[in-house]
Amino acid sequence: MAKQVPCGVRIAGCGSAVPDKRLTNADLAAMVDTSDEWICQRTGIRERRILDPDKGETQLWLATTGLRNALDDAGMAGSDLDLVIHASVTSEMACPSNACRIAAAVDAQPAGAFDIVAACCGFVYAMNVADSLVRTGRYRSIGVVGCDAMTTAVDPTDRSVAILFGDAAGAAILVRDDDLNRGCIHQTLNADGRTWPSLFIPRKPSDLPPDREDSGARMGTLRMDGREVYKFAVGKFREVIEDALTATGLGVDDISQFVCHQSNIRIIESAMDKIGLPPEKVYINIDRFGNSSAGSVGLCLDQLWKAGKINEGETIIMVAFGGGLTWSSSVWKV
Ligand code: ACO
Repeated sequence: MAKQVPCGVRIAGCGSAVPDKRLTNADLAAMVDTSDEWICQRTGIRERRILDPDKGETQLWLATTGLRNALDDAGMAGSDLDLVIHASVTSEMACPSNACRIAAAVDAQPAGAFDIVAACCGFVYAMNVADSLVRTGRYRSIGVVGCDAMTTAVDPTDRSVAILFGDAAGAAILVRDDDLNRGCIHQTLNADGRTWPSLFIPRKPSDLPPDREDSGARMGTLRMDGREVYKFAVGKFREVIEDALTATGLGVDDISQFVCHQSNIRIIESAMDKIGLPPEKVYINIDRFGNSSAGSVGLCLDQLWKAGKINEGETIIMVAFGGGLTWSSSVWKV
């Protein structure tokens, strides 16, 4: 463990992982009553990547691959990490945390390891927590990985959710930096638990809200009030970005990339219109990967990073919202 001297935080490397197997809108239209046209118009999604259990692919494998890629990018080994934070709603087991098993897989012991559950906000929550821990000077390096295999948690016959999700992991390695102004310069972690019935994964019948008729979908699969979540997300996306700009005194021109959770193209475009965000500053990959929940923002970050679109000295904003309901922002001086 590092000496307790306050410091800045640097992103030393990024990584991501997606399965090879593609699920197109045409594939879904052959399984449920939907169409490529409806899905494209309402969500912007054309295809998504899904785990292939026949090849032995699991959520744990996906998350571990994402973190390994980030370690490689940083030129570091698992043994260089003081802590592993994994964000997910689709972890393999309640105990142990996936973080412990990911840490073991990259040989990070005795690094601490824990999971965060914040649905689609998971990666942004984890980045904010990790930045705060490194910044105190107590931890030198933290591996953050957001990963969801939502295709293991949706009922494939429920068209209201089956069309939305893909499986992915996004990861980053955060290390201490002498420049105190480097790293997360503004962050928010928010939730309104009163709204939880808008989006939840029940384990047993008694988890269902008392006034709710069961949809008939099996336990362990996602229930979502799409219209409620949509309204919430459209409002929050704009609010969270505007609040981050006000709090930091920055304008849209000062930000090089707005790295947004990929939930629905219409939700992102609404924020772009209302705030006046130029398309070249708002990365979109939902057409190819769908909504990968806790994997989404980290996947975007890695793809931007590898494309050379996030450079030293630039400022980026990461934003997400999700089940809980939760919402979160993270402004970084890279
Ligand atoms: N294919 C064809 N028709 C469909 C489908 C489908 N897959 N799904 C619903 N419909 C029908 C509905 O039955 C409805 O028919 P009706 O008018 O005859 O009643 C019609 O299409 C419109 O349905 P809406 O639910 O109003 O469609 P909407 O435009 O709201 O789009 C969607 C639905 C895409 C789910 C949207 O509400 C949405 O994106 N919500 C936000 C979801 C989200 O972001 N979740 C986030 C986080 S997930 C996490 O945190 C783990």
